[in-house]
Amino acid sequence: MIADYQTQCQRRVDAALNDLLQPPSEALQRLYQAMRYSVVNGGKRVRPLLVYAACEALGGEAQQADGAACAVELIHAYSLVHDDLPAMDDDDLRRGQPTTHKAFDEASAILAGDGLQSLAFAVLADERCNPHAAELRLAMVACLAQAAGPAGMVGGQAIDLGSVGQRLDQAALESMHRHKTGALIEASVHLGALASGRADELALQALQAYARAIGLAFQVQDDILDVESDTATLGKTQGKDQANHKPTYPALLGLEQAKAYALELRDQALHALRPFDSGAEPLRELARYIVARRH
Ligand code: IPE
Ligand code: IPE
Ligand code: MG
Ligand code: MG
Ligand code: MG
Repeated sequence: MIADYQTQCQRRVDAALNDLLQPPSEALQRLYQAMRYSVVNGGKRVRPLLVYAACEALGGEAQQADGAACAVELIHAYSLVHDDLPAMDDDDLRRGQPTTHKAFDEASAILAGDGLQSLAFAVLADERCNPHAAELRLAMVACLAQAAGPAGMVGGQAIDLGSVGQRLDQAALESMHRHKTGALIEASVHLGALASGRADELALQALQAYARAIGLAFQVQDDILDVESDTATLGKTQGKDQANHKPTYPALLGLEQAKAYALELRDQALHALRPFDSGAEPLRELARYIVARRH
């Protein structure tokens, strides 16, 4: 069931992303080629899926969520391009292909990331891409900016780079993961709820508790897969966390306890969805998928 839902949402967001990544002029061909290479390359689209599923859980329609689905994936793709740069994690493989700086060059990868980031906010602000009242669009822009920026993902990446070679305690590791990965996942759920036009305070609180749990679970599972998966399955080089001396959940707790923690977070997420009816089934499936996935 999650596979069908995933395919359907992937098609939907991929078509919209494809439209956004058409070069407007000959002179910008190479920049757009690098941006497109970084986005249209087989990502799992978990964040767009969360946008659609949260919108649906509140009774909204998919077309209300297309803009937000594109925006979160554009931010995510940019974060990966920069995360892979030699100055950061220095990775050669992403989604089974050479990383953007390997396929193009470092300057092109930096600019592609910058371009994807700006495009994300342009999409949310533009009524043709994000068909909501100006006030709601502004709330969506603010939500994504908070999650992507220094108080969210960028802050988490800074903590990550500053923690190389250190042994963080569990509270510090949790904070790093909540910033670098959890913030954008929480924003995806929040944006989907806003896009439905039916988000009341109680629903938002329940969805936030759900999103906090899966946001952390997502990075715990990412850490686990870096240890126990293989490069072909992952589409990125296995074992890089240890090679780069990154603090991770398996390093701190051991593999088995890290797995148990991921399942505990999944259960917390499912618990938070108790007030919702079967409309939240895709969100429940996504919580199960996030800790069961193999890549
Ligand atoms: C990888 O994210 C980076 C993290 C935040 C852990 P995904 O596992 O969602 O990567 P793609 O988009 O499917 O390639
Ligand atoms: C990345 O975390 C989080 C981002 C904000 C991109 P990782 O560095 O663990 O992601 P992977 O393992 O390279 O995909
Ligand atoms: Mg990293
Ligand atoms: Mg990395
Ligand atoms: Mg990782």
